[in-house]
Amino acid sequence: MLSPVFCFLTTVPLCLHHGIFINAIELDISQPDSIKAAASITAYGMMKYYQGNLTGQIPGLLPGPYYWWEAGAMFGQMVDYWYYTQDDTYNNVVCDALLFQVGPDRDYMPPNQTKDEGNDDQVFWAFAALSAAENNFPNPLPPQPQWLALAQAVFNRQVSRWDKDFCGGGLRWQIYSFNNGYDYKNSISNGGFFLLAARLARYTGNQTYADWAEKMYDWCAQSPLLSADYHVYDGSSVSNNCSDADHHIWSYNYGVFIAGAAYMYNYTNGSTIWHDRVLGFTKTALANFFPISLGGGNIMIEIGCEVEGTCNVDQPSFKAYLARWFAITTQLAPFTYSLIMPKLRASAQGAAKQCSGGTDGVTCGRHWYQDTWDGTYGVGEQMSAMSVISAMMLDVAPPPLSIATGGSSKGDPNAGTGSAKTLSPDGRPITATDKIGAGVMTVALLLFMIGGAWLILD
Ligand SMILES: *[C@@H]1O[C@H](CO)[C@@H](O)[C@H](O)[C@H]1NC(C)=O
Ligand SMILES: *[C@@H]1O[C@H](CO)[C@@H](O)[C@H](O)[C@H]1NC(C)=O
Ligand SMILES: *[C@@H]1O[C@H](CO)[C@@H](O)[C@H](O)[C@H]1NC(C)=O
Ligand SMILES: *[C@@H]1O[C@H](CO)[C@@H](O)[C@H](O)[C@H]1NC(C)=O
Ligand SMILES: *[C@@H]1O[C@H](CO)[C@@H](O)[C@H](O)[C@H]1NC(C)=O
Ligand SMILES: *[C@@H]1O[C@H](CO)[C@@H](O)[C@H](O)[C@H]1NC(C)=O
Repeated sequence: MLSPVFCFLTTVPLCLHHGIFINAIELDISQPDSIKAAASITAYGMMKYYQGNLTGQIPGLLPGPYYWWEAGAMFGQMVDYWYYTQDDTYNNVVCDALLFQVGPDRDYMPPNQTKDEGNDDQVFWAFAALSAAENNFPNPLPPQPQWLALAQAVFNRQVSRWDKDFCGGGLRWQIYSFNNGYDYKNSISNGGFFLLAARLARYTGNQTYADWAEKMYDWCAQSPLLSADYHVYDGSSVSNNCSDADHHIWSYNYGVFIAGAAYMYNYTNGSTIWHDRVLGFTKTALANFFPISLGGGNIMIEIGCEVEGTCNVDQPSFKAYLARWFAITTQLAPFTYSLIMPKLRASAQGAAKQCSGGTDGVTCGRHWYQDTWDGTYGVGEQMSAMSVISAMMLDVAPPPLSIATGGSSKGDPNAGTGSAKTLSPDGRPITATDKIGAGVMTVALLLFMIGGAWLILD
């Protein structure tokens, strides 16, 4: 990360003597100017981590320890930041980043990221491009790729990975068989595709995308990823044909299903089935991530790691996505507004109070239910605060566009259907020997499964 001198990196007394404490971000959620000012402080604090626009650096990448996907998620939240606040300070930087990482096939599969890129990583970049389309973020000049076409390319690539041979369908977490997690089918990859398809259906009006959203939802619903009463679990393994699930709960997993259902509800002009799903996931998410015991049931908490302080480098950013997807759900499925908005409002006020750390006095921590800075900091903390604070503009911000309502991004339904430059771990094109290796692995896995069943029968 960048090297801002944080208070706790020196000694506390030194800070007290020399630090300038601005006592948190001021936020009056009834005043658009106050919301914009607060959002802008959190955005500035986040973009300080980004150096990809400096000479010699690579556009679109965050410095370590942040992974490629989180940069895509961050630029997506920056598109939303501009949409909520109309502050275009960062637009050129954001546009350059989103275009630099598209890869040679314009499908967000840059060869440099082969070892790190799963379906979920790819879809977060597609979400960013689609947010640009839905908000009429400035269109790139041709022959640069267009926002809608980029999202369609990711959709088409992921359709081609539909894996009917194991667990009856769905996507694996990983794209490449040589990466850890290739045997895992997880909610963020499958739910991510569901949300991508639902958004494309609403933006383009093309029923094929809605059919895929249905197909993916139905597969998830019959798998252990989703429970009949709308709980969302982390993932399931092909090694036992997805017969059980890892029951960890994460806010972004709920978020993709809430928002995907809201887009489908809106696309179907208010179908009862999607109404019930939006409501079901909204209620379980509110119960899980807004616990009464901390924050009185009104403050968003990443319950799987935040309180114990066990979050990894990715997890502090998850609340940013749940906040954004809750916000969009109130627009697309307005019957949820009275359920969701009070919780977002209290969370935004909590986040503003939590942005009271560091030498700048406005560095954001995680514990929105706590009045004083909790000592944590990072891209995820800044992003989450920025997302929930910007969402306070919802009452004046327009709903996402579609082609029918003025969305101007140019699409290409065939983007991402050409032969992909299949790559090996070091970014080389895959050779015949690599392929034989992968085939041997599949046979070995099958033998292992049969052998495993045999042992149990014994
Ligand atoms: C890089 O982006 C930051 C905003 O995050 C901006 O302040 C800075 O001027 C940019 N630098 C260049 C060289 O464009
Ligand atoms: C890939 O890595 C090379 C070598 O570091 C670099 O020059 C290039 O800009 C990178 N491309 C992307 C899209 O990250
Ligand atoms: C694997 O799971 C799918 C979906 O639940 C099911 O249709 C299929 O019969 C299962 N296969 C085996 C070998 O149990
Ligand atoms: C929703 O309503 C609009 C306007 O009446 C109509 O054009 C559209 O076909 C409907 N969509 C669906 C999926 O039924
Ligand atoms: C779909 O979204 C639009 C835009 O927010 C909203 O006006 C409309 O009421 C929504 N449709 C339904 C059926 O709720
Ligand atoms: C709708 O999307 C499908 C899937 O990408 C594509 O094959 C088809 O051409 C699209 N139809 C139109 C009218 O764009």
